[in-house]
Amino acid sequence: MTRDWLADTRTSYDADARGYAEKVRGLLEQSPYLRGGLSIFAELVRDAGGGPVADVGCGPGHVTRHLADRGVDAFGIDLAPEMVALARRDHPDLRFEVGTMTDLDLADGSIAGLLAFWSVIHVPDHAVPGVFAEFHRVLRPGGPLLVGFHVGDGTRTTTQGYTGRAIHVESHRRRPGQVSDWLRAAGFGIEAELLTDPDAERPGAMIFARTQAQS
Ligand SMILES: C[S@@+](CC[C@H](N)C(=O)[O-])C[C@H]1O[C@@H](n2cnc3c(N)ncnc32)[C@H](O)[C@@H]1O
Repeated sequence: MTRDWLADTRTSYDADARGYAEKVRGLLEQSPYLRGGLSIFAELVRDAGGGPVADVGCGPGHVTRHLADRGVDAFGIDLAPEMVALARRDHPDLRFEVGTMTDLDLADGSIAGLLAFWSVIHVPDHAVPGVFAEFHRVLRPGGPLLVGFHVGDGTRTTTQGYTGRAIHVESHRRRPGQVSDWLRAAGFGIEAELLTDPDAERPGAMIFARTQAQS
């Protein structure tokens, strides 16, 4: 039987929202590289004129908070209603909406920047080009994009959440070159790739890209 990956991801993060929020609490404070990547992104948004920035797959909203505290007009979107409920509870002054990156409820060219921090990891290969096309559609010309993901090969299936509850979520590890190729094909120019923990079992990568400005 073919599983519905979007439904699996939604129900898994709904079930594990509290466990995940606990796991990532304080993570940014411990990682100068993640904070550095977000600072660069905030600067790129500012230099491009500022405006609303979507944190897509925002989880409990800690990264949205981090950007907002640095002057970015950030709002969050997440597939899992329980995640959005937690984000609203913990950051009542920020805006969070339920939605999917496969079909964003945003007008063409309506946002100044888009962040997808370790959220595209749950999108299977065949659906990534469509997701990056959505990112390109909603960003205004010259708008910066930051994508963070696990580096490597293959897919892991997680069947137990951080609080021990049964879940079923797939995480796809990828080579930065593959992700950049998908982004170029969607109309992005690649500006930088940052590899973190290169010697670890599961390195991370952040790719900075931008929609091509209209001539
Ligand atoms: C690993 S967590 C990352 C959360 C946060 N960005 C962070 O850096 O900690 C992945 C998040 O992406 C969300 N997500 C997965 N697929 C999504 C989709 N198709 N559209 C929107 N959000 C999605 C999940 O619900 C989950 O909150």
